Amino acid sequence: MSDTNSSPNGKKILSRRNLFFGAGASLLAAAGHALYRHVSSTSSVKVESFSTPASGKKKNILVITGSARQGGNSDVLAEAFVKGAREAGHDVNVFAAGRERMSACLHCEGCWSTGRPCVLEDNFEKLWPLLEKADMLVFCSPLYWYNFSGHIKCVMDRLYPYSKKQKLRDMPVREAMLLMCGESLFLRSFAGPAEAYRQMLGFKGWKDRGRLFVTGVNDAGDMAEHKALATAEAMGKNA
Ligand SMILES: Cc1cc2nc3c(=O)[nH]c(=O)nc-3n(C[C@H](O)[C@H](O)[C@H](O)COP(=O)(O)O)c2cc1C
Repeated sequence: MSDTNSSPNGKKILSRRNLFFGAGASLLAAAGHALYRHVSSTSSVKVESFSTPASGKKKNILVITGSARQGGNSDVLAEAFVKGAREAGHDVNVFAAGRERMSACLHCEGCWSTGRPCVLEDNFEKLWPLLEKADMLVFCSPLYWYNFSGHIKCVMDRLYPYSKKQKLRDMPVREAMLLMCGESLFLRSFAGPAEAYRQMLGFKGWKDRGRLFVTGVNDAGDMAEHKALATAEAMGKNA
């Protein structure tokens, strides 16, 4: 992953490496799984994505979005994914964490004491029934301070009841995807949340089914007709 092909003034720079990646994709073998990795970088806007082959089974997919901006860039990215996933026959629910009232985890260890996963009475009440039937989680977040948005991070922390040994129930989740967008022109700006996501999946034993990072989008509307939408839709179809 290199930033040398970005241009501060937004002019097209086509290095040999860009031409190679822009022309197609590289097939890699990683941990026994075929991995499709595509870096498209023919302008100051970069899209990096990869996805692994789908099992072909119909799934229950829960997309958790992380922006308060309705119709903003990450919402539009999530919509493209949802379109593809529904076209492929999957059941898809969307939880817009950025527009739901939800507190941060208190680490009070009161999980399951009421029969519910959490003692807090907020819109997690809407989320946990969706979590408890989801085969796949898709996190779709804007980049905030080189990290997930607080809205998404809050949801991740509220998954704590499901990581306890003494849980009453579990989530059927086995797979995850990560979609992110930000103003930065550099893919390295997403390195922090990408690593946190990787570690989280390792901890939970979930399979990583793909990641998409979209640089160079800031104003609401920047994602409209963006080339990344086709990638997000394909990731949904391939879910
Ligand atoms: C609090 C805050 C922090 C942000 N931090 C970053 C950042 O660290 N890097 C970046 O590239 N963009 C950052 N941005 C810009 C957003 O990632 C960008 O505008 C994104 O497209 C917003 O997506 P949305 O329309 O879905 O909310 C930040 C925006 C906000 C509001």
